[in-house]
Amino acid sequence: MAALIRQVRDPAAIAVLHAAALAEQGRSYPIEIIVEKWSQVQDAHFLVADVADPVAFLAYQTSAPETCYISDLYVVPAYRRRGLARDLIAWMTGHFSTLSLHVDPDNQGALHLYREAGFLQTGVNTGDGRIRMELRPGN
Ligand SMILES: CC(C)(COP(=O)(O)OP(=O)(O)OC[C@H]1O[C@@H](n2cnc3c(N)ncnc32)[C@H](O)[C@@H]1OP(=O)(O)O)[C@@H](O)C(=O)NCCC(=O)NCCS
Repeated sequence: MAALIRQVRDPAAIAVLHAAALAEQGRSYPIEIIVEKWSQVQDAHFLVADVADPVAFLAYQTSAPETCYISDLYVVPAYRRRGLARDLIAWMTGHFSTLSLHVDPDNQGALHLYREAGFLQTGVNTGDGRIRMELRPGN
């Protein structure tokens, strides 16, 4: 699927998609609250995948040069399994030497995606049981 991937800093550009992602988890937030929350994250960056309209986003924070943490990844249901998440991750591997993220152990689709991209498990959170994964594209 030909998607245009673009980098944005304005959380308003991804707020509707993030609201949809949260709604899938049964969490309902007004768009303004999502924009406000992201505005308080100092080093927040976003990728958006457009197929005419924005249909996917990835949020990341840079903790050090060339290193970044992927905090959110979401593709609207109608556009899943067309390679958009793979494309967003490929963009990230082309721009950073270390990527890290957390994933729920029962999220088999996301686990497949990350393992296929080369992410390795580095640990499990004691609090919420989420799996920590890391990818060093150059290695
Ligand atoms: C997980 C998610 C981001 C995947 O997005 P996507 O664009 O559908 O993924 P892609 O099409 O790029 O998939 C690439 C590969 O990942 C794996 N994969 C993706 N979704 C999968 C699923 N539901 N089941 C099994 N494997 C899956 C497959 O290996 C797939 O390759 P294939 O389609 O050629 O078999 C999407 O399902 C989503 O937004 N889910 C809800 C939010 C979420 O769980 N985000 C991740 C939080 S850690």
